[in-house]
Amino acid sequence: MTSSSAPDTGTEARRGAFSSRTVFILAAIGSAVGLGNIWRFPYVAYEGGGGAFILPYLVALLTAGLPFLLLDYAMGHRHRGSAPLSFARARRAAEGLGWWQVGICFVIAVYYAAVIAWALRYTGFSVTQAWGEDPEGFFFTDFLQLGDPGVDMVFVPGVLIPMLAVWLGLAVVMALGVQRGVGKVALIFMPVLLLVFLALVVQAVLLPGASVGLEALFAPNWAALADPGVWGAAYGQIFFSLSIGFGIMITYASYVGRDTDMTGSALVVGFSNSGFELLAGIGVFSALGFMAQASGVAVGEVVASGVGLAFVAFPAIISEAPAGAVLGVLFFGSLVLAGITSLISVVEVVISAVRDKFELSRGVATSVVVVPTSVISLLMFSTSSGLYVLDIADHFINRFGILLVAVVSMLVLTWALRLLPTLADHLNRVGSVRLGVGWRALVGVVAPIALGYVLVDALLTDLRQPYEDYPAWMLGTFGWGAAVAVLVLGFVLSALPWRRETPLTVAALDAEEGLRPPGAEEEVTR
Ligand code: ALA
Repeated sequence: MTSSSAPDTGTEARRGAFSSRTVFILAAIGSAVGLGNIWRFPYVAYEGGGGAFILPYLVALLTAGLPFLLLDYAMGHRHRGSAPLSFARARRAAEGLGWWQVGICFVIAVYYAAVIAWALRYTGFSVTQAWGEDPEGFFFTDFLQLGDPGVDMVFVPGVLIPMLAVWLGLAVVMALGVQRGVGKVALIFMPVLLLVFLALVVQAVLLPGASVGLEALFAPNWAALADPGVWGAAYGQIFFSLSIGFGIMITYASYVGRDTDMTGSALVVGFSNSGFELLAGIGVFSALGFMAQASGVAVGEVVASGVGLAFVAFPAIISEAPAGAVLGVLFFGSLVLAGITSLISVVEVVISAVRDKFELSRGVATSVVVVPTSVISLLMFSTSSGLYVLDIADHFINRFGILLVAVVSMLVLTWALRLLPTLADHLNRVGSVRLGVGWRALVGVVAPIALGYVLVDALLTDLRQPYEDYPAWMLGTFGWGAAVAVLVLGFVLSALPWRRETPLTVAALDAEEGLRPPGAEEEVTR
């Protein structure tokens, strides 16, 4: 491994840095492996044709996921800044793309914390099997106290308290900084997560009926490949799951020493994430197979989408399975561990951006970001309408936030700024995998066309049919409204001036760090 240098320059000392390449890779895998892998992937894969889904999934990973991950790494590593600062250093006029991604992270953070809080609560519920005979009624009525969409907004203390715990814990980690907080947590949580998750998968695979579930997951339904929605699901899954398109990998790459092999790192992170996803599919579907066999129904009847899979189907399995309490603690514990390391990365994008722009200390930036974000998160998601708001925000921000900003960024960097050759040269300097014309073609042409197609299809679907038939005002506010608001706000924030001392070009940054004579190759102005 090419090792990364410890923070030795002014910028690194000021902004924070990971102490080694290993810590960076663990933090990046920690970000990628999250709720999306354990709770979302198994269901999306099953819906998308089971075994046949592997094909669009791999195509999405190779044509867009990995190339975009490399683009994010190049942007952050070359420009050594948060998402807005990295785009500003590429071209001052492009800074809004960075703030747009920061806004997306804000939206994700407020609902992501709620799901982690539910998992935290369910880790405890697993021990007593608090849901009794009726996991579905327990989850929706007793635990979430779900009312009519948008009508009932009463606070639910059973959700509020674990959410508070998540936000308080997060505030402490974020205040500790890049290495002592973010890096340390990854260093401890990731090996624990791997062990806990492996134990879960082994226990699940050994359950009677596991093979029935695995057959259902892997039996290919080739007809699904003709459905553009399945391809859209594969691209959407890859972007959310790899943590790309919302500033995370730019931010993390900016904390890595100069002489670090970033291309090799991208392959390690990308394939670890997919490996984990596959393992999650195997574990979850083994358990579903057990349940199907125990209740004498087809696997399709015990599969439930998203939230339902984790918080309704799994409790039912836990009640039936031998040593169910252990299975429950392993499953929900995995969700908590994986979720926390991802939430940390999402919030770090916002903190890092605010720090860079306003030159705030770590402690002040953490308070300025975490206090309002957690208050909004608690107000919106600990009420009896929280689940609906979450469902809408997740659906819209993934499509018209993450995928849209990804397409726009690729087009701007390739065709307007013509930056791909420079970025490729940067990564090739110490990279173990050479980026050439193939990478540029994928980032500049293939991925934007594929994602553009997926986005148009998603837009037409959502315009034709209101998502899940939620009330128009809710879709307008938490769906379309949130997606448009982060875009507009992004460009408004980018209009704020930088402090005079902040170098806004790579040349000026290098000069500040004594790597280049002052004034050499000074290109863009503030
Ligand atoms: N990449 C994170 C996940 O999969 C956000 O949940």
